[in-house]
Amino acid sequence: MGNIIAALSLNKITEYLTEKSFFDIKIYDSLDSTSTFLRSLAENGEKEGTVIIAEQQTSGRGRLGRSFYSPKNSGIYMSILLRPSTHEINFDINRSIYITSATAVAVCRAIEKITKKDVAIKWVNDIYLNEKKICGILTEGSLNNKNTSFEYMIIGIGLNIRTSSFPNELKNIASSLLTPDDTDFTENIRNILVAEILNQFSSIYQNELSASPQKLEFLKEYKKRSFFLGKNINVIKNGTLHPAVAVDINDSCHLLVEYPDGSSDELSSGEISIRVSDLQEETQK
Ligand code: BTN
Repeated sequence: MGNIIAALSLNKITEYLTEKSFFDIKIYDSLDSTSTFLRSLAENGEKEGTVIIAEQQTSGRGRLGRSFYSPKNSGIYMSILLRPSTHEINFDINRSIYITSATAVAVCRAIEKITKKDVAIKWVNDIYLNEKKICGILTEGSLNNKNTSFEYMIIGIGLNIRTSSFPNELKNIASSLLTPDDTDFTENIRNILVAEILNQFSSIYQNELSASPQKLEFLKEYKKRSFFLGKNINVIKNGTLHPAVAVDINDSCHLLVEYPDGSSDELSSGEISIRVSDLQEETQK
């Protein structure tokens, strides 16, 4: 126990990894973006299960064209390559949307198992601790030539583990899993968490995702972990704020909202941001 964080280590991660044969992990000191790098590998035929992790990113990317703050040695910046259409189960475009929610659940399960901290999901794919964002997930894919399924998908996970300071514009909205006062953790926390996130993810990917939407256990968990259902939110569409109440998340992982005039809407992740009225900002920029 202490307050030092050990470097990312393939040996250490492998020690805690249960699905050793599915993943091929590569660690880099610095990359512009693990997802951009992995995309170039994917275009050249890299196999499913390749994982790229970096100690820092110089141009980390977030959803909706935002950047993701990725300082050295203080977080987990990791991308996983999937080729869903190579599996026997029907992995068409509709099913691929579950990949992001499955990842969010996997990250929550891993954090809670390793740190016993309670984290929650903010639809679509942000993870919050004490009402601040500590993790963002960016799923990107390349469609096959018939546009019926994905040739490959890349899941990018950015988890702030112990970021000592954030730039001014992030201070009120972003946080990290461990605070400077948190000394009750092993120096290998990052390595253990990387392994546990991959363990949890592969268990959902290989065992749970083939069920029909009504039977997807992780989807029920996703809903239970979503912290703003029933609350007042603002839906941000094309830069305009629309006050609404978050009513439910349906089996397609769409958010059902009700507007003050009684009309309702079913939102998919696309171009929409959600701001919980009580929180200061919508997401990490
Ligand atoms: C978001 O918050 O909008 C998503 C953030 C995703 C960040 C991760 S860090 C690893 C991977 N590489 C990137 O450039 N982005 C993702």
